[in-house]
Amino acid sequence: MHQSPLAEHVGVEITGVQMASLEGEALDALKQAVYRNGVAVLRDQDLSPEQHIAFAKRWGGIDVNPFFPTNSGWPEIAEVRKAESQKNNIGGGWHTDHSFDQVPAMGSILVARELPPEGGDTLFSSMGAAYDALSDGLKQTLSTLRAVHTADHIYQPGGYYSQTDLAGEMTGQELSTRAVHPVIIRHPVTGRKLLYVNGAFTTHFEGWTRAESLPLLKYLYELGSRDEFQCRVQWQPGSVAIWDNRATWHLAMNDYHGHRRVMHRITITGEPIGA
Ligand code: SIN
Repeated sequence: MHQSPLAEHVGVEITGVQMASLEGEALDALKQAVYRNGVAVLRDQDLSPEQHIAFAKRWGGIDVNPFFPTNSGWPEIAEVRKAESQKNNIGGGWHTDHSFDQVPAMGSILVARELPPEGGDTLFSSMGAAYDALSDGLKQTLSTLRAVHTADHIYQPGGYYSQTDLAGEMTGQELSTRAVHPVIIRHPVTGRKLLYVNGAFTTHFEGWTRAESLPLLKYLYELGSRDEFQCRVQWQPGSVAIWDNRATWHLAMNDYHGHRRVMHRITITGEPIGA
């Protein structure tokens, strides 16, 4: 397995690996590469949906996202899809998946299925680098805070995703997604300290109003999306990205209007997170 960094703080491209048959020590080495670099990109994988699911099961458990279409025919696979006629895309703002769950997902394995002729890249940002860039004073303050995460405003009818391909999945039922997590967490494997709030799902600090929380949250959102903390994944047929939701944010670029993009995502179960 050969590893080359994609950027200074986040991302690694892995060559010499075929995911369909990867197991044992080689799989452990790939896991470590994801945990340490936040996201790993593998090219020319030619994974069938069955091989995608089998690989995810060898990594760990699968979290099925109830809000996503499973049009692929496999319930374990969420289709992240934008049709030619759609304007808004899924994942077009900086976020980390499933932070509204009590035990947030470890990460995701995203397989490119249909790509636009140009654009549709995915950006990743390092939450370890964002944490390191905080002043000692703000690190100290944030280490005492917890934040509330929810997805209700996104997945409810009339929410942001009602203008995406997820509209058909919205049932009209009352949602109540909610979790409270420390603002600074420790990575469960590497022990690295990470900033753990995100612009899509974090609404406020526990015990603070939203109005009180917003100025500090906005500062953290700007910090976390600084160019120097990012890498860019340019998709090709056969590309797969595996990322760690605790250590990164990601953003799907929405710069390919009039073209279709279909990705298959499997989300891997995480472990409890803490400070
Ligand atoms: C996601 O936000 O999980 C999807 C990312 C992408 O489609 O590039």
